[in-house]
Amino acid sequence: MSILVTGGTGFIGSHTVVQLLEKGYDVVIVDNLVNSKKLVLNRIQQISGKMPKFYEVDCCDEEKFRKVFEAEKITDVIHFAGLKSVAESVQKPDLYFSNNVGSSKVLMKLMKEFGVKNLVFSSSATVYGVPDHVPLKETDNVGGCTNPYGQTKLDIEYLLKDFSKENPDMNIAILRYFNPIGAHPSGLIGEDPQGIPNNLMPYITQVAVGKRDHLNVYGNDYKTVDGTGVRDYIHVVDLARGHLCALKKLEQKPGLVVYNLGTGKGTSVLELVSAFEKANFIHIPYVICDRRPGDVDENYADSSLAYEEMGFKTQLTIFDACRDSWNWQSNNPNGYDEGDSNEGVCSKSK
Ligand code: NAD
Ligand code: UD1
Repeated sequence: MSILVTGGTGFIGSHTVVQLLEKGYDVVIVDNLVNSKKLVLNRIQQISGKMPKFYEVDCCDEEKFRKVFEAEKITDVIHFAGLKSVAESVQKPDLYFSNNVGSSKVLMKLMKEFGVKNLVFSSSATVYGVPDHVPLKETDNVGGCTNPYGQTKLDIEYLLKDFSKENPDMNIAILRYFNPIGAHPSGLIGEDPQGIPNNLMPYITQVAVGKRDHLNVYGNDYKTVDGTGVRDYIHVVDLARGHLCALKKLEQKPGLVVYNLGTGKGTSVLELVSAFEKANFIHIPYVICDRRPGDVDENYADSSLAYEEMGFKTQLTIFDACRDSWNWQSNNPNGYDEGDSNEGVCSKSK
């Protein structure tokens, strides 16, 4: 009886796999390593004391993916696999639709074929488009996505809703993440962006480690507390725990449910910079630049439904996230690229 975790060697997936293993679940990871490294498996083992099963398979490849379902006794799926760069999605919309929507369609087909009833899906606050108010509730309007990446998330949500109607015995939790930051407190796993980071926290940590001169702050004329953009930053360890809460919720056979996973609190760019400086005693030089196209003033969650219906509440603070992000970055200045050569590659992986 195993939990299938697609995209399980990625940033959020690896943190979730650690918690699943620590809670005694058997875990099977499927990942094509397009945006992660096999070395993550060793790190997961170092933290949890257990090595998850691993298949290097593309979820769009129906035949190979079917073999995983044939080989393993899967009861539940957490579907993280997907491409997530907003900028790249604008350059390559077809790739984003075929990979993100395509892999989800194959997954739904195989779950039906093999009678697997429980699915947790990684959606995003990006489905709310340009919000006209905050905090955002699950019942608020979705749509008006400002980029193809966001549109793939919304398309998958609609597909899941149709799938749920056609298959009323399926239990599906759509989780809309706000802004995940932080890293495991061990410093062994964390976010490993390729090239220049698009997102704020990895950019800050790369300034701190000396890879970038300064942070570009995209605009200080927003209608916010200090003019800089406000977001709901959730520690990845809290976010990962949200997936375990969702699995428990699915045991109650709720049909399809949708939850925001956020802290319910907004933090501005300059507030995050200041928290990072205080947590780590490192100065972060910054320059105010033009707004980034597609950015909104404020975006934060009403997180009450996840608490009421599945008991999920964040426990870690922005300060914890700043400390843990820096611990990860300073221990791994080049992410997983310079993992200890003695670590080798996990021997049990398939
Ligand atoms: P990530 O890139 O670190 O992890 C995604 C993993 O999926 C990677 O290991 C990648 O190799 C794998 N993958 C991609 N396409 C695949 C395919 N076709 N078959 C098999 N594996 C594939 O990203 P993350 O930050 O861990 O995000 C996980 C999920 O959460 C994604 O679906 C992402 O869109 C969603 N999400 C992320 C954020 C964020 O800010 N990180 C916010 C909202 C939603
Ligand atoms: C971005 C994506 C969103 C995606 C999310 C998680 C855009 C428009 N939105 O959200 O679709 O779901 O990442 O991957 O790309 N900032 C700076 N300087 C930087 C980087 C960011 O000032 O170098 C500011 C931004 O203007 C924003 C805040 O920091 O106000 C957070 O930015 P970011 O981390 O990129 O997240 P989002 O824009 O919320």
